[in-house]
Amino acid sequence: MKIVSIVGARPQFVKCAPLSRELRKSHREVLVHTGQHYDPEMSDIFFRELQIPKPDYHLDVGSGPHGKQTGEILARVEEVLEREEPDVVLVYGDTNSTLAGALAAAKMHIPVSHVEAGLRSFDRRMPEEINRVVTDHVSDLLFCPTETAVRNLANEGITNGVHLVGDVMVDALEFNREIAREKSSILGRLGLIEKAYLVVTVHRPANTDNRANLESIIGALGEAGCPVIFPLHPRTRKYLDTYGMLDALPVNIVVIEPLGYLDMLRLMDGAKKIATDSGGVQKEAYLLGVPCITLRENTEWVETVEDGWNVLVGADRGKIVEAIREFAPAGSQREVFGTVGASGRIVEVLNDQGNPVHC
Ligand code: UD1
Repeated sequence: MKIVSIVGARPQFVKCAPLSRELRKSHREVLVHTGQHYDPEMSDIFFRELQIPKPDYHLDVGSGPHGKQTGEILARVEEVLEREEPDVVLVYGDTNSTLAGALAAAKMHIPVSHVEAGLRSFDRRMPEEINRVVTDHVSDLLFCPTETAVRNLANEGITNGVHLVGDVMVDALEFNREIAREKSSILGRLGLIEKAYLVVTVHRPANTDNRANLESIIGALGEAGCPVIFPLHPRTRKYLDTYGMLDALPVNIVVIEPLGYLDMLRLMDGAKKIATDSGGVQKEAYLLGVPCITLRENTEWVETVEDGWNVLVGADRGKIVEAIREFAPAGSQREVFGTVGASGRIVEVLNDQGNPVHC
């Protein structure tokens, strides 16, 4: 089969790396990079480190308001699909690139396969939630990472084409964990001692575009009593700067540029705890066995909370401080994201399609 895969943002590069490797064993993949993330440390470094093939198309959409960005991707993907006439379009996760890719394909009656289908935060104020819901409802094959995701889809009446395959991020992490331990020098570069520092990531608009929330988070991190390593997403840098906070951060907060996958994996692996508003980082913390403090009121990855490895604290300063000091998971983790091999299981399902289903 000829498969057009659409990626555009950092977490999608991570997810596409193991799947692309599997896909290319038996299918022809045409890789499209929308250009949603374009800074070298947000894009190029992932292609290099994860050995992702060079994209066949780079759409260069760049940043912009949601409607404009989504619309630009939609129009440009449509042109690619007209030219390539693929059997299937593959989209990942929940970004504007996901939604636009899925819509372009569905309108052209090209079957859509959604990797990481069925995730829900039940919070429609998150742009990602809208992207997920719409993408799932126009998808023909829905690859779910968890049983919760399968249930979420069933609750919305989606049962056809649903496959519980596990999480491709497990594949990426297992493939790279030892490589990161061998190759990454991030701990030495930052002078860090294993399990004696925190890692924090913040990039959700609910936290960055709201001065009170960002102040509350930074204030809490200042009370951590240990180094807090803070790789800065460009949006977060912009807002910290706008609020005049960038040059007045507490001394224990170490701001660094966004990291590539291997350095980030190594940094998380060695951390005492992780505080984040990212979905992917919550999952990686769980898989690495590092307690996670989630700077949101809700999560799509409910299993990590149910298992006691993740705690939801929002942007509440008191709760964040308490979690930094007290939060200690009791038991071990289950295999809620499935075993290694999700990428292979997805390709098996695609192989079985034979004559692909047209909607
Ligand atoms: C996007 C996804 C989010 C995902 C995240 C991973 C949507 C709606 N959101 O959010 O689900 O968790 O990617 O990082 O698709 N910028 C740069 N350089 C870049 C990229 C962005 O400077 O290479 C700046 C721009 O000012 C831009 C802002 O960051 O406006 C936000 O980027 P955008 O791609 O719109 O969304 P993310 O916040 O990264």
